[in-house]
Amino acid sequence: MTRLFVCAAQKDEVGRDVARALKIEVKKQGLKKLLLGGEKRKVRIQTCSCLDLCKQCKKGPGAALLIYPHGTAYGNVRPRDAAEIVHEHLGEGRVVERLRID
Ligand code: FES
Repeated sequence: MTRLFVCAAQKDEVGRDVARALKIEVKKQGLKKLLLGGEKRKVRIQTCSCLDLCKQCKKGPGAALLIYPHGTAYGNVRPRDAAEIVHEHLGEGRVVERLRID
């Protein structure tokens, strides 16, 4: 399974909107199941409490998220970034460098 954990600890709860937008995009782009190493794996998107990447959350109006098992962290993600993350990261296997954090 591929899991996306979206921090929902911001005051304005943008993380919930980001998670919602990601779910819509995954459905729209037909990526609810990913082919990884010859196996079809489900994609699960969920909100979580603080990921301890708050510095990044505070940098801008977006949320932080982590993708497992890839181990990629993204910061300052807004709902409008959902389509790009789903297409590039989940669909094409490419990291969205402009949103990547360490
Ligand atoms: S407030 Fe988002 S990672 Fe902590």
